[in-house]
Parts: sequence; C-alpha cells; structure tokens
Amino acid sequence: MARTPLMAGNWKMNCNHVEAVGLVEQLAWTLKDFKYEPERSEAAVIVPFTDIRSVQTVIEGDRLPLAFGAQDVSVYDSGAYTGEIAAGMLAKLNCKYVVVGHSERREYHGETDELINAKAKKVIAAGMTPIICVGEVLEVRKAGIHVSHVLTQTKGVLDGIPAEQVAKLVIAYEPVWAIGTGEVATPQDAQEVCGAIRGYVAEAFGEEAAKGVRIQYGGSVKASNVVEIMAEPDVDGALVGGASLKADEFAKIVMFYTVA
Ligand code: PGA
Repeated sequence: MARTPLMAGNWKMNCNHVEAVGLVEQLAWTLKDFKYEPERSEAAVIVPFTDIRSVQTVIEGDRLPLAFGAQDVSVYDSGAYTGEIAAGMLAKLNCKYVVVGHSERREYHGETDELINAKAKKVIAAGMTPIICVGEVLEVRKAGIHVSHVLTQTKGVLDGIPAEQVAKLVIAYEPVWAIGTGEVATPQDAQEVCGAIRGYVAEAFGEEAAKGVRIQYGGSVKASNVVEIMAEPDVDGALVGGASLKADEFAKIVMFYTVA
C-alpha cells in the first residue's frame, strides 16, 4: 500500500474569506493548467476559521480537487468556552484535516503534548484527520538531542490513540528553526527525524501503523527545494506556510512528482 503524499498549505492568519476564495480559485486553475493528477499527490489548504465556509462552498460547488481543513480545534465538545471552535463544528463544514500542535500554538499559547494529544483525539472522534505537529527548537538541535526530543513529543501526542487510527493520521515534523526563516533542513535532516518517527510508530503501534502513517516535513518548503526533500523515503508530504500563499508556487510544490 503506497502512501499518497499530502501537500498541505498552512495559510496561518492570512487571507480574509474574500481573498481565500480568490486564492483557492487561482490555485485550482493553475493546477488544471499544469495537468495535476490528484492520485499522485493530495493538495490541501488549511485556512483560518472564518474562511472555511467560503472555501468549502467554492471547492464543493466547483468540484475542485482540493481538500481543506482548519488550523486548530478546541478540546471541548461544546459549552461555555468563549472563542473556541469544536471538532463537531469543523466536521459539519466537511473539513478533512485539522492541524494540531503547530509550533506557533505551542510557543504563543503554551500548548503541551498532552493537550495536543487530547485535541487529536477529538479530531479523530469527529471523523476528521489530524495533522499533528512535532519539532525541535534551535537549542535542542544544537545540543544534538533532536531525535530523542522529537520522539518524546511523538510518544506524548500519540498516547492512547488506537493503532488503526495512527495508520490513518498525519504527523508533521517541523524543526522550529526552519519555520518562516528561509533556513530549510537538508533532505538528510528531514529523513533522519521522519525515519525515526516511523521507527517509533512501528515499535509502539506495529508495522501496519508505520506503513500507513503519513509523515510530512515542514519548514521553508518551496518549489525549489521540495523535490529533493520528497525524494527521501520517509517523507510523505510537506506542510507549507509562506509558499502556500502564492498559487503558482504552491501548485509547483503540489506537483513535485512531475520533476521527480
Ligand atoms: P514556512 O511555515 O513554510 O513558512 O516555513 C511552515 C509551517 O509553519 O507550517
């Protein structure tokens, strides 16, 4: 069973809903022009909450070959949690993916592996797929303990998730020092950690889970470096920030396979 690469554009806090519709349409036209083959690489846009309904309408209405999702979710199902968005609300909008534990959430909102694990479970329970982020900060990398650090995070965020669910979810390895800095990890750096994550999944959840789980690399991915990163055996896609806001650039990233 080959894993279909997942190229997900994390828009972060960019694009209001009007701009979002424009960007999605432009992306779809560009992919069509380039003769995109969705079975070779899955394209997804991960948009701000306020854009989801509009993005859903245009993607479903025009049957565009794009998946869409959200950037965060509440650990609660409903109730007095002002400002929060429940997994059930996102599922009702047909979100396929929900990013949990992005390093910006960890850094600016104090999210822990335990909370991220609880959010991932809510996403799964609502029938969606979590994209669970892990990754080390620069000091950890400099100390040479990045592999064990990321495996500790991975253990925490996957705790108690059944093996058949682990097989279907997505883990994004994003070294924090490479996010939005232009400082991309080498393909070997990406493979080292993505391979170690798959090894941990095999050990903790079994071979089937390890074969199925998709592991993305994220951090300054661009059209000019995606091909060599995707050539690594344990890298099954990319979580793309800045470069996903330009339709042409993101379309080239999605279609990395035409160069490979
Ligand atoms: P970047 O962001 O591609 O702009 O480095 C990646 C991410 O934070 O998901």
